[in-house]
Amino acid sequence: MNSVLEQILATDTVKTPAGESLPLHSHIEANGGAFLQNVITQVKPKVSLEIGLAYGISALFICDALATLPTAHHIIIDPFQTISWHGVGLNNLRTANFGAMIDFREKFSHSALAELVEAKTVIGFAFDNFEIFSAIRVGQAENPIAMCCHRIPDSSLAF
Ligand SMILES: C[S@@+](CC[C@H](N)C(=O)[O-])C[C@H]1O[C@@H](n2cnc3c(N)ncnc32)[C@H](O)[C@@H]1O
Repeated sequence: MNSVLEQILATDTVKTPAGESLPLHSHIEANGGAFLQNVITQVKPKVSLEIGLAYGISALFICDALATLPTAHHIIIDPFQTISWHGVGLNNLRTANFGAMIDFREKFSHSALAELVEAKTVIGFAFDNFEIFSAIRVGQAENPIAMCCHRIPDSSLAF
């Protein structure tokens, strides 16, 4: 486990880029993170996708596992990283040296996902613990199943 993640889980706090300490919340638990890493180790995706960065806990677990694979990178979508999460998630990923591996899009998932489909992006692994895929299914896309799953040929979705 990278030292940034280790420190956050040990203290139950995160630090803003300005150094302010904040209580950790809204994150995946360590056993959930281990599950994601296990899936990634088996699936070996070239490109992975995550909706909802928050303080970056699941992304730190995911990038830890992706770092063992050559050329893998992680696309992250979250429209509220700056306004609600004070840039903490991105800062954590950069501090953990995952900056070059991530492709962060500060956009709503319905528009960022549409762009990925338009660009014919092939996703090998995807994680969403905010059920945004479900929200899209219910309300925001004309053909949401095709939109979310068509580009995931090995069906390695983890919710
Ligand atoms: C439960 S938190 C994610 C926690 C993170 N995956 C983790 O385990 O550390 C949900 C995230 O979804 C983001 N979010 C809310 N609405 C969104 C949307 N329409 N598109 C993308 N992200 C969204 C929020 O800003 C928040 O960061």
